[in-house]
Order: sequence, then structure tokens, then C-alpha cells
Amino acid sequence: MDLSKYQQSFLSYLQDQDFKREPKNLYEPIDYILQLGGKRLRPILTLIACDIFSSEYTKALPAAMAVETFHNFTLVHDDIMDDAPLRRGKETVHEKWDINTGILSGDAMLILAYQYFENYKPEVFQKLAKLFSKTALEVCDGQQLDVDFETRNDVTINEYIHMITLKTSVLVGAALKMGAIVAEVEESQADLLYDFGLNLGIAFQLQDDYLDTFGNPETFGKQIGGDIIENKKTFLYLQSLASATSEDKEKLQFFYNQKLEENTEKVLEVTKIFERNNIPELTQNLIQEYTTKSFDFLNALNISEEAKKSLISFGENLMYRKV
Ligand code: IPE
Ligand code: IPE
Ligand code: MG
Ligand code: MG
Ligand code: MG
Repeated sequence: MDLSKYQQSFLSYLQDQDFKREPKNLYEPIDYILQLGGKRLRPILTLIACDIFSSEYTKALPAAMAVETFHNFTLVHDDIMDDAPLRRGKETVHEKWDINTGILSGDAMLILAYQYFENYKPEVFQKLAKLFSKTALEVCDGQQLDVDFETRNDVTINEYIHMITLKTSVLVGAALKMGAIVAEVEESQADLLYDFGLNLGIAFQLQDDYLDTFGNPETFGKQIGGDIIENKKTFLYLQSLASATSEDKEKLQFFYNQKLEENTEKVLEVTKIFERNNIPELTQNLIQEYTTKSFDFLNALNISEEAKKSLISFGENLMYRKV
């Protein structure tokens, strides 16, 4: 599938937005994070979904912009919550400015995201806003669980999947469904696309967790080992507790029950535990599983075989991503 068409039209729409407003200390961070790049995965999915069902995909541009603005808002606040120094290879907003700036610029982005729906007629506006509010609240639920899990020692793999479904997958599903809503297709079709996105989103977050430890520091754009430092109960950690040697389990629990100033040794040792217990392969298997599961929802869609193949290749490419 030629993604560059969607990418280019989204980027040119983004460039037309005026975030060079006053007060500077509120809008400069917004402009900074939105211009910092990123894969633009979610807005591209909104445009693809609209294109599949309609002859004019560009009418989904405001919805795509809403999704990307919301996503970037969550990143600004997520980086505060995760104490992350790096985002897309550059300083995070709260590092470059300060925490208060990150909070308020993030709040403003959430509101800006909603304003993009004003571009649609009432019936479409209502559907978009309803889905968006539900999704945004679920992301908050997921983010709270993610933080709660840091200090819990009894998190299960099921609870982890539930948590990442909320913090990450629902937005991937919603991005697709919003494109379908703009195209005004029937609800059952839009919902199949949503379920495709939901499962793809789980695979996507599993891959994010994998790359957090095993990504290439030169290209990943985020601090390697950040999840280990923050005691995040990712699949890597939970699977180790389920299948590592008892000696390694004890070591892992020891490390994850402390927060340190100096983390070089912790990250190195935990990474070695993951490696010698075959965790990278087990994680890749689960990523494969959820990606394959996502494709099941495409079969029931009333769209061309060509469109299905495009979505499958999109999903497969996500599996092999390095950033
Ligand atoms: C990062 O999302 C946050 C997660 C949900 C894993 P992306 O990996 O899509 O971030 P960008 O927008 O491409 O930088
Ligand atoms: C991201 O989870 C979820 C949201 C931003 C809502 P992470 O905390 O793993 O995302 P990254 O790794 O910082 O991008
Ligand atoms: Mg986080
Ligand atoms: Mg984070
Ligand atoms: Mg992450």
C-alpha cells in the first residue's frame, strides 16, 4: 500500500495549523512535540479507513489531526509520569521546559483535539465526539493501571493485556473507526475495523515494550531500559516470573522492588535475565499471535480483497518495526 499519499497529505494539513500563538510558553511546546515527527501511525489509519469506504479520504484530515493531537498530548503527560528524558530522539517537553508547562500544554492539546470535530456536520460530529470521549477516558484508565502496577507484585498477564488494551489499543481502534465514521459507513463495518485495530494495538504495545529493552539506542528515540528503571510490569517481566529459573525470578523481584538513582547495573542485569530465559522470542510469538488475530476481523469486512491485503501488510510491517 502506498502510505506516502496519506503521510504527505497529513503532514501538509499539519503544517497548515497555526500553533505559533501567544502565550508562547503554552503553544511552543505544542508546536515542538507535534513537529518532532513520529510514525504518524494513528492519523494514517484514520485516512486509510476513510479511503476504503469513501471516494474522498481528505475529509478525514480533521479527524486524523484530532487523533494525532490527542496522541501527542498523552505522550507529553506520559513522559512526565514515566520520568522519561527522551522522545523521538529529542528532549521531552517537561525536560526542555518544566513539568508545569507539560501539564498545561498537554491539557490545551486535549482541548485542541476536540475542536477539530467542529469541522463535521452534527450527525458525524456527535459520533466522533462520543467515540473519542469514551476512548480518551479508557486511555486514562489504562495509564492509571500502568502506574498502579509499578508498585504491585501480583500483576497477572491477563491484567497486563487489559491495561495495554486501555492505554494503547483503544486509540488504534478508534483511529480506524473515526475514518469509517467520517465515511459514514454502517456501524457493523466500522466496528470490525475497530476490533482489527484493538488487536493490532495490543501487538503494537507488546512490541513497544520489547523495544524499550531491546531496541537500538541509536535509532529507538527513547531511553533504553526506561520500563526496567520504572519497574513497569510489562509482558517481558511477567513472562519471566512465569517461566524463568527460580534464581532469576528472585533476582528480578529484588530489582523490581527498588527505585534507584543509578540504573546501569539494574538495566544490564534485568536484560540478561530476559535474554537467558528466552523472553525476546516468547514476546515475539505473542506479538505474532495478536497480529494474526487482528487479521480475522478483516475477513468479515465488506471491502475489496486489495484493501484487505493492504491492511494486512500494514499490520505485518508494524511487527517488524524498529522504532
Ligand atoms: C508511543 O506511540 C506510545 C505507545 C502507545 C507505545 P508511537 O510509537 O506511535 O509514537 P510515535 O508517535 O511514533 O512517536
Ligand atoms: C504509552 O505507554 C501509553 C500512552 C502514552 C497512552 P508507554 O509509556 O510504554 O509509551 P512510551 O514507551 O513512553 O512511548
Ligand atoms: Mg507510560
Ligand atoms: Mg512512557
Ligand atoms: Mg513504552
